[in-house]
Amino acid sequence: MVTDSAFDPGAAEISVRVPGRVNIIGDHTDYTGGLVLPTVVDLHTMITGSTAPEPVWTLTSQTHGPAVIPLDLERADTVEPAWARYPAGVLIELRSLGVPIVGFTGTVSTSLPVGAGLSSSAALEVATARIVMDVANRSGHDLLDDVEIARACQRAEHMATGVPCGIMDQLSIVAGSPGWATLIDCNSLDIVRIPIPASVQIEHRFISGRTLVGSEYADRVAQCREIENLIGPLREASTRDLARLDSDLLLRRARHVVTENRRVLDFVDALHTGDLERAGRLMTESHRSLAVDYETSTPEMDAAVESALGEPRVLGARMTGGGFGGCIVILRHI
Ligand code: GLA
Repeated sequence: MVTDSAFDPGAAEISVRVPGRVNIIGDHTDYTGGLVLPTVVDLHTMITGSTAPEPVWTLTSQTHGPAVIPLDLERADTVEPAWARYPAGVLIELRSLGVPIVGFTGTVSTSLPVGAGLSSSAALEVATARIVMDVANRSGHDLLDDVEIARACQRAEHMATGVPCGIMDQLSIVAGSPGWATLIDCNSLDIVRIPIPASVQIEHRFISGRTLVGSEYADRVAQCREIENLIGPLREASTRDLARLDSDLLLRRARHVVTENRRVLDFVDALHTGDLERAGRLMTESHRSLAVDYETSTPEMDAAVESALGEPRVLGARMTGGGFGGCIVILRHI
């Protein structure tokens, strides 16, 4: 535990409310430094409580009794109940950055469905970080910036689950706001806020529960590393560079990433020019690429996309997030 003798936060009452995210376009691009375009959803995770004198965080959830996280904890992946591994990972990561952390007792509640691909785990991580930063700030400690907080939360997710996720979920939640899409360059971590036109709505539809733990997500990350060892950074590759790949499997994986990065830019351009039909078509092309080349969709998600495309005023639809279940996202004219 990092201690600071001048640090006396008192028994401050604190409450934070953090949204989930839905990715509009740009999936399985973040872990090769590509482009993503998520937005926040109107579903939230809340932590409410107060600082406590004991060197532990005690969190009670809607469904689980207290999780007790000692502030000198070294590993997050053995904490029980398992949902408390996320806040535990964040406390460990923030401590390692020199942020002073004091005891806290609180409750966690959420309207975000867990395991639905709306980043409930990232919302819990960011909510934990916000509590810590709020308390630290009251004692005069400098705040970390959005990128530092998102990176700490991403490392916490790695530590809690072993899934080698990219930065999209955590950074889109830290930096996002309702009514705006967040264009993130996952290499430079530059962020551009893009207004969502008032004439469309972004909807998400739950298809099936899933977890990325033990899924093929880590295989996809490993395949991208293999491709990059052969042809260099995917974020800089063009479709011509892909001809150098002998393996059909790697060629398809790489083709998804390269064309998806292009689609994100084209989608932003379509929003700027008001060509909403084109924006919708790009989302649907993204789905087909994820389904056929990247193989992260499921038959249920494919059927849900086809069915959504037949609905009135739907411009485009696609699976969203890590895949293998979860949600689809729909662009609808209103
Ligand atoms: C999950 C990961 C993200 C990202 C998406 C796919 O949500 O946590 O980092 O890789 O899958 O775009």
